[in-house]
Amino acid sequence: MIEVRNLHKVYGRGPAATPALKGIALSVEQGEFVAIMGRSGSGKSTLLHILGLLDSPTQGEFRIQGTDMLRLSDTDEARYRLEEFGYVFQEFSLLPGMSVLENVYVPALGLGRNNGFKKRATELLRTVGLVDRMKHDPTELSGGEQQRAAVARALINRPKILFADEPTASLDLASARVVLDLFRRLNNELKLTIIMVTHEPDDAQYVDRVIWLKDGLIADDGPTASK
Ligand SMILES: Nc1ncnc2c1ncn2[C@@H]1O[C@H](COP(=O)(O)OP(=O)(O)OP(=O)(O)O)[C@@H](O)[C@H]1O
Ligand SMILES: [Mg+2]
Repeated sequence: MIEVRNLHKVYGRGPAATPALKGIALSVEQGEFVAIMGRSGSGKSTLLHILGLLDSPTQGEFRIQGTDMLRLSDTDEARYRLEEFGYVFQEFSLLPGMSVLENVYVPALGLGRNNGFKKRATELLRTVGLVDRMKHDPTELSGGEQQRAAVARALINRPKILFADEPTASLDLASARVVLDLFRRLNNELKLTIIMVTHEPDDAQYVDRVIWLKDGLIADDGPTASK
């Protein structure tokens, strides 16, 4: 599904140039749940942002189902970000002043799918175990609950790939487990492809495969025991 070859990223230029990725090659199959691990500064977020079309590489090839992702029109790029991809970050970034339900369906507004998005948002909140909190303001939810609402929001437009950058880093251990169990369930039941950056080695037990980055290169890439 995802094909990456010889991917390089250099931030800045001249004496301030920082190479962050130094020639990454990887393939991800549809339905895989992959963790990207490695030390701080190894290039995990940079790689995730490039795969999620939130940043562009300095050099390399990147295809999804044969489509050259580095030569998309602005319209197609925006469509991938809004409809094909879902994102979850360390900060939940739910909007206060709107209910949890409204937060979940905001990304569906303006897509011309005005029928049914509220119902779908409610179903997603049921999936993440928050249907009884949907009228609340996000500030009234715990961190773990806010992250589960953010996961529901990421899924509202039925993305094919979920990108998550340290989704449990702001959570206590119990809430982190609930979020990771949810990812595992979404992967099993919806066959959702998930690419998750994490620095927590214990998270490996939830995923099919771990890609280890070291200084901008893949140091190891293989299935986990759970596979
Ligand atoms: N906007 C930027 N400008 C310049 N250098 C950057 C920028 N973003 C990242 N870098 C550098 O690129 C390298 C990789 O950064 P990246 O954020 O991808 O690492 P990471 O593995 O996600 O680290 P962490 O675990 O701390 O989040 C680091 O050396 C970092 O300092
Ligand atoms: Mg990072």
